[in-house]
Amino acid sequence: MIIEPKMRGFICLTAHPKGCEQNIINQINYVKSKGQIEGAKKVLVIGASTGFGLASRITAAFGSGAATIGVYFEKPPQEGKTASPGWYNTAAFEEQAHNAGLYAKSINGDAFSNEIKQKTIDLIKADLGQVDLIIYSLASPVRTNPKTGVTHRSVLKPIGQPYSNKTVDFHTGIVTEITIQPCSDEDIENTVAVMGGEDWEMWIDDLKAAGALAPGATTVAYSYIGPSLTEPVYRKGTIGRAKDHLEATAFGISDKLKDLNGKAYVSVNKALVTQASSAIPVIPLYISLLYKVMKEKNIHEGCIEQIQRLFEQRLFNGSAVPTDEKGRIRIDDWEMRDDVQAQVAALWEQATTENLPAIGDLPGYKTDFLNLFGFDVPKVDYLADVNEVVEISGLV
Ligand code: NAI
Repeated sequence: MIIEPKMRGFICLTAHPKGCEQNIINQINYVKSKGQIEGAKKVLVIGASTGFGLASRITAAFGSGAATIGVYFEKPPQEGKTASPGWYNTAAFEEQAHNAGLYAKSINGDAFSNEIKQKTIDLIKADLGQVDLIIYSLASPVRTNPKTGVTHRSVLKPIGQPYSNKTVDFHTGIVTEITIQPCSDEDIENTVAVMGGEDWEMWIDDLKAAGALAPGATTVAYSYIGPSLTEPVYRKGTIGRAKDHLEATAFGISDKLKDLNGKAYVSVNKALVTQASSAIPVIPLYISLLYKVMKEKNIHEGCIEQIQRLFEQRLFNGSAVPTDEKGRIRIDDWEMRDDVQAQVAALWEQATTENLPAIGDLPGYKTDFLNLFGFDVPKVDYLADVNEVVEISGLV
């Protein structure tokens, strides 16, 4: 079929297999161009099909020659109906990995469930024995806690008082003022239950109990801080409470891994266009100004550049892993540079619908957004008839 983007708000209902494949090839080529990383060799990535998790899987496989198992939750294709992009990404990744002689298998299902944890552990035990790196990169609006059976829904709201600021509809470029009402106490608990560290810890507990963690095993989850201007809706809002919890959980997991000489880290990453971040009000305007400033300074990075640098210069740099005073790895260092933030803050004050095309990088935002679904990717023939029913060769 001929596949075109079908936009609905901040999601796209279709995805292009060839565009997703080309994105994967581009990311693999980038990682290869940066040379070998003496990193982990048996890697589990939870949330492996898009965004930072996908970039982690690609970096582990093509930077360090690692065997990878990916866990994700994606919609398979049907005749006449495209899959979600993470499905096509995984199909392309596994094909490339297998062609390169690398082990790559995956599991599609709810990572929060006991069933998928057990299935993953069984696969590790059968094929790899143990894993030495576990990347935890889930972004989800909902989680059913397998112990209580309660389904929690996360919200993106300020705490305590309403928050008003500018935002942009990135499809139309229209800048408006929005007010987000504060959350309830229940909203905080639910958001922490979905995006905090509880499930990460459950994974590590289960993997350890099953003997599936190699000596020296490292686990990394991803967090975000960002500037003061987004604080009320991000770091000091409901999602920020979840990230506080995630960051605190790293210390608890590290204690549990002491006997294995293992360690848990949180890496604070840069703000990027992903399916998760485009759903957060205010953030798209911030990102479009940030992109403009970082591109001008030649320090712009996407997910793959961020994660390649994380692996090469932080996690596997040949000596101690550098962390901040709170024990976090910082790969958001360029985003948070004083000169970058001062310029973004000044542009933020000025931003209007009329001047955004000149002072912000809305085209960059839009392109990145379309790219997430395999659209607007150079070298792809969008007029060609493509088969939407693509299989994932390593799907278990
Ligand atoms: P994403 O939406 O691109 O990826 C989410 C991944 O989780 C996908 O592989 C998806 O299939 C998987 N997933 C979601 N629910 C699942 C479930 N129930 N079971 C199994 N898999 C499931 O998200 P992104 O942006 O890469 O986020 C990953 C992490 O990075 C999150 O913790 C996020 O907060 C963090 N982060 C994101 C930043 C951004 O600007 N996008 C910045 C810094 C950190």
